[in-house]
Amino acid sequence: TALAAPVALAQSYPDKPVTLVVPFSAGGPTDLVARTLGAAMSRTLHQPVLIENKTGAGGTIAATYTARAKPDGYTFLIHHNGMATAPALYRKLSYNPLTDFEYVSQVIDVPMTLLGRKDLPAKDFNELRAYLKANGDKVTLAHAGLGAVSHLCGMLFRQATGVNLTTVPYQGTGPAMNALLAGQVDLLCDQTTSTTQYIKAGSVKLYGVTTPARIKSMPDAPTLSEQGLKGAEIVVWHGIYAPKGTPKEAVDKFGAALRAALADPAVVKRMDELGAVIVPEAKQTPAGLQTWLVQETARYAPAIKAAGQFAD
Ligand code: MLT
Repeated sequence: TALAAPVALAQSYPDKPVTLVVPFSAGGPTDLVARTLGAAMSRTLHQPVLIENKTGAGGTIAATYTARAKPDGYTFLIHHNGMATAPALYRKLSYNPLTDFEYVSQVIDVPMTLLGRKDLPAKDFNELRAYLKANGDKVTLAHAGLGAVSHLCGMLFRQATGVNLTTVPYQGTGPAMNALLAGQVDLLCDQTTSTTQYIKAGSVKLYGVTTPARIKSMPDAPTLSEQGLKGAEIVVWHGIYAPKGTPKEAVDKFGAALRAALADPAVVKRMDELGAVIVPEAKQTPAGLQTWLVQETARYAPAIKAAGQFAD
């Protein structure tokens, strides 16, 4: 596509609904964060924030779509670590995360949990390790595609345990969780924003959290690292992006609405209950996101290279 000419922004921006693109299925963790924030932001922007789930290829379809969208201030993207891992995972990526976007803000950090189907014989992490040794690639792990954090968590887990699990892809961890609840797959590593309710209800087995330290919302849940699994720590971070060339006024206004949403007591309480941590104000800026993305892109590349999992 030709480089778009700068778009003039109406004084009254936004004067129609703004789209927030979500790279994974409705009902999943990214969608939950987007809808929670979008609803709060609509009140500040006086226009609806419409959530558009553009699923597929581990989030890269949504990022491609946003990179090519008209930079008029009416299309934004929420994405997570996948923005940093995609360049190492995909040999042919049709966008450059470091040059094809305007950065709006970092958003929220979410821990992950390693879960098993309810009737999996292993009752704790130690037993799971023995079970994996005995069953190897007969054990299945659901994930949301190359570039999904559920896939990244699974990859780090496979590297740390040396067990070659069989992976089963979905369009998001919403459907992956449904498969786990139905007993169609054995394991899923997914974010607490989605998994807390199922863990509390006892409808899945919890083997550990992926954060370096235990989390406030589930203090009894051991971390994977305290149970001896080193090198599989992962925290899911989120950023909001706009197509390159989006007017600064639009980025600023959308960013200001986002910051208001992140300070909304109802949003803070809900995120707190789900184990998610709103990033400090210094990170709620374009520069905060950009610096972080550059750092994370460099950090993941060696582990991905070592795992040797690529897509064209
Ligand atoms: C989702 O919203 O489905 C997840 O964030 C996908 C993932 O595991 O990355």
